[in-house]
Amino acid sequence: MAFSKVTTKKLIEKKQKGLKIVTLTSYDYAFAKIVDDSKIDLILVGDSLSMVMLGHKTTLAVTMDEMIHHTKAVARGVTNALIVGDMPFLSYKVDIKDAVYNAGRFIQAGAEAVKIEGGTEILPIVNAMIGADIQVMGHIGLTPQAVYKFGGNLVQGKTTEAAKKLLIDAKNLEKAGVFSIVLESIPWQLAKLITKSVSVPTIGIGAGPHCDGQILVIHDMLGIYTDFKPKFLKYFGNIGAEIRKALASYKDEVEKGVYPDMEHSYDFPKEDLDKVNEWFESADLDAEAARAKAKKE
Ligand code: KIV
Repeated sequence: MAFSKVTTKKLIEKKQKGLKIVTLTSYDYAFAKIVDDSKIDLILVGDSLSMVMLGHKTTLAVTMDEMIHHTKAVARGVTNALIVGDMPFLSYKVDIKDAVYNAGRFIQAGAEAVKIEGGTEILPIVNAMIGADIQVMGHIGLTPQAVYKFGGNLVQGKTTEAAKKLLIDAKNLEKAGVFSIVLESIPWQLAKLITKSVSVPTIGIGAGPHCDGQILVIHDMLGIYTDFKPKFLKYFGNIGAEIRKALASYKDEVEKGVYPDMEHSYDFPKEDLDKVNEWFESADLDAEAARAKAKKE
């Protein structure tokens, strides 16, 4: 079956049909093209790029301008997947007008929706964005922009009160009109209840098998970013090791003069080769260079 342009409506239909939704992050043109070719439903230009692309310790450091720069690159590589821009820290909770404006910048950069972190407390922001015709993805549970409030990257929703709050948050986000909700690092039983109670798809990361879909950070699942490994993370490849192997081989061949060989070198046209060699043997290169420079001045 031909894989065609994914829309938020199609994702909701997938949930209704009981079909799993497969999503990943991407941050640049080359990766986005491979992910899109692999028929992944949704590509999130995640603020995780702060860590995996820019080397910061948390997601808090990445700026709007950096997110927009990467969103534009991803958009150039994608034909079918739904592109979601992840709104960074300070871009939507300070002021509602700024939130809508910043969400609009993602859309102008090529995203088709934005993701924001938070529950019931951010409903006015969600309403304003949806009021401006911008599609919104929610994100509850372990919301990494609140890492210092949580005291670390800790599993959320582990008490009755916390579980009730997350169920209510999900319901409120659904009622406000989000097209999907990311559930991050919560017990699978709670994710199952949330998934059952909302009509929009839940996309889990560290939220067990009962979510409507899954998301992983692409640099994590490929074994490229290995600074830490949460319990939920499974390596689906070891591209980091493959890259190291390739680089060692490149270094070795260059050092030994094996690369580049003639197969990877350009030939000078045969008919002129003698003329160039002749000129080279007789010319005073320093004088020729000085003459060319003086002519330019
Ligand atoms: O920034 C990100 O990559 C995310 C996903 C982990 C959901 O928010």
